[in-house]
This record gives sequence, C-alpha cells and structure tokens, in this order.
Amino acid sequence: MFNEMKSEINSFLLNYFKNKGTFNKVIYDSASYSLNIGGKRIRPLLMLLTYNMYKNNWKDIIEFSAAIEMIHTYSLVHDDLPAMDNDEYRRGKKTTHIAFGEDMAILAGDALLNYAFEIMSEAVVNSKQPEKMAKAMSTIAKKAGVYGMIGGQTVDVLNEERPMDIDTINFIYKLKTSALIEASMMTGAILGNATDDDIKKMEQIARNVGLAFQIQDDILDVTSTTEELGKPVLSDEKNHKTTYVTLMGIDDAKKKVEDYSNDALNLLDELNYKNEFLNNLINELINRKK
Ligand code: IPE
Ligand code: IPE
Ligand code: MG
Ligand code: MG
Ligand code: MG
Repeated sequence: MFNEMKSEINSFLLNYFKNKGTFNKVIYDSASYSLNIGGKRIRPLLMLLTYNMYKNNWKDIIEFSAAIEMIHTYSLVHDDLPAMDNDEYRRGKKTTHIAFGEDMAILAGDALLNYAFEIMSEAVVNSKQPEKMAKAMSTIAKKAGVYGMIGGQTVDVLNEERPMDIDTINFIYKLKTSALIEASMMTGAILGNATDDDIKKMEQIARNVGLAFQIQDDILDVTSTTEELGKPVLSDEKNHKTTYVTLMGIDDAKKKVEDYSNDALNLLDELNYKNEFLNNLINELINRKK
C-alpha cells in the first residue's frame, strides 16, 4: 500500500508540470525541479494513511496530498535561500536558487504555494460534497500560514545568532515543522469524515510526530553526511542556531525523539480505528537516517 501511495503521489507531481509554458517555461521547470528530484513524501503519506483509517478510496484525495507536498517543497525552496539558511544542496541536487537563480527560486516557491491552493479549490468546486474539502483547505491554509509554518520560520530566523531556551525552541518546532504535519493528518481525518474529537486527537498525534521529526533532523544535521542526507550537514552550526542537540546533547535529543514518537503512537492506540501502515511509518521515523 505504502509503495503504491508513494508512486501515485510521485506521478501526480511529475505530470503536473510536464510540457507546460511558453515564454514562461522556466517557471514550470523551476517549480517542478525541486518537487521532483526526491523527497521522502512523508506529509502526503501521513495524510493518505490517516484517511485510510476511515475510508479505503485514498486515490480520491490525491489532489490534497499533492497540495501539501507542494506547500512543503515551497517552504524548503525558500528556507534554502541566501537570506534564510543559505544552503546549496537539497534532495541530493543543487538547490533551486543555485540551479535557476534567486529570482526564479522565489517565484518557484510562490508558484508552488499558489498551485497548491488552485488544486485544492478546484477539487472543492468539482466535489459533490464540498464542505469537508473546504474545511480541510482552511485547515491547511492556517497551518501553513503565520499561525503555523511561516510563523515558526519567522521566529527561527529571528533568533539565529541568539541563544534560545527550550520554550522558544518548542514554539518554533511546533510551528515550523509540526504545523504542516498536523495539517496533513488532520486533512486525512477531515476528508475521511472523522469525528471532531478524532480530528483534535490527530492534531495532537501529529504535533508529537512533528517534534520528533524536527529533533531527528537536528541530530542528522550533526551525525549524518551530505551524501546520505541529500542536503548539507552542519547547516545549523553555520547559521549559529540553537537546536535540541546544542541544548542537551545528542543522547538526550535521541531520547526526546523516542519519547515524542511513543507519545504519538500511544495516542494513536486510543483511537477506535487502526492502520498498521501508519503506526509503522511513525515507528520508522524514530530511526530514520535521512
Ligand atoms: C525537511 O523535511 C524539513 C524539515 C521540516 C525538517 P523532510 O525531511 O521531510 O524533507 P524531504 O521532503 O524528504 O526532502
Ligand atoms: C526547516 O527547518 C523547516 C521548514 C519549515 C522548511 P530546517 O531549516 O532545519 O530544515 P532543513 O534542515 O533545511 O531541511
Ligand atoms: Mg531553516
Ligand atoms: Mg534549512
Ligand atoms: Mg535542519
């Protein structure tokens, strides 16, 4: 199921930008570049697997899963810009601004964000039951915006040169990383017709998954290699960022990854619906190497 979902997501994203554009062809190429050179597709997979707890026909929501990956990819394209983390590799290739120039990288990010909302709003317009889709779209808008990812990135770059305490770090991680994971899992639940109570629980589960995910990202920034990660290691040190690793060391940070992941798995167990693939994915993230 897992592989089938991933290949369905990949082919949707690849075909979306194929053979498009005339004078503006470069914007299609640059938007497609970062989106289609790799990426683990964690967020769309979490969305589809969550949906699959409630309903079988996950292909029906493929547009929403593609949209969340576009928003995530735009956040990476902009995160790598010289004005932000100033990184030259992403997903094993040169970053978009190195390959296409800074101007095109800014526009490619904008284009991906816009396309995400175009795809979702078209799905709403074409749906016979548009209410759930509209609710999912509104959730994604908020979680990607200043209350979520953008808000987290704001505090992240604001504090680059300053030491931060754990509360500030947790604020940043919940927003910059958990928020899009919350949007993914909540959307799966909303479109799956889950109860409000389950949607709330899914938000909590995803918050824990996101915290574990970002702390593991901090660890890999120190312990991995550029070849394995597909992005530069020691990027946090270069930018003088406080992370879980600088605050408490690698061993305690690893323990936090396990704790947050186990919190997520325990909360997931409390639900009446099960999906072993979802449990497996969250479990695998604890020891991920990339
Ligand atoms: C990287 O996300 C940014 C973080 C929130 C840590 P991923 O590790 O999911 O990156 P891709 O999508 O696989 O490239
Ligand atoms: C970025 O966090 C999270 C985003 C919202 C893009 P990082 O800056 O740690 O992500 P990487 O390490 O560049 O992927
Ligand atoms: Mg960053
Ligand atoms: Mg970065
Ligand atoms: Mg990082």
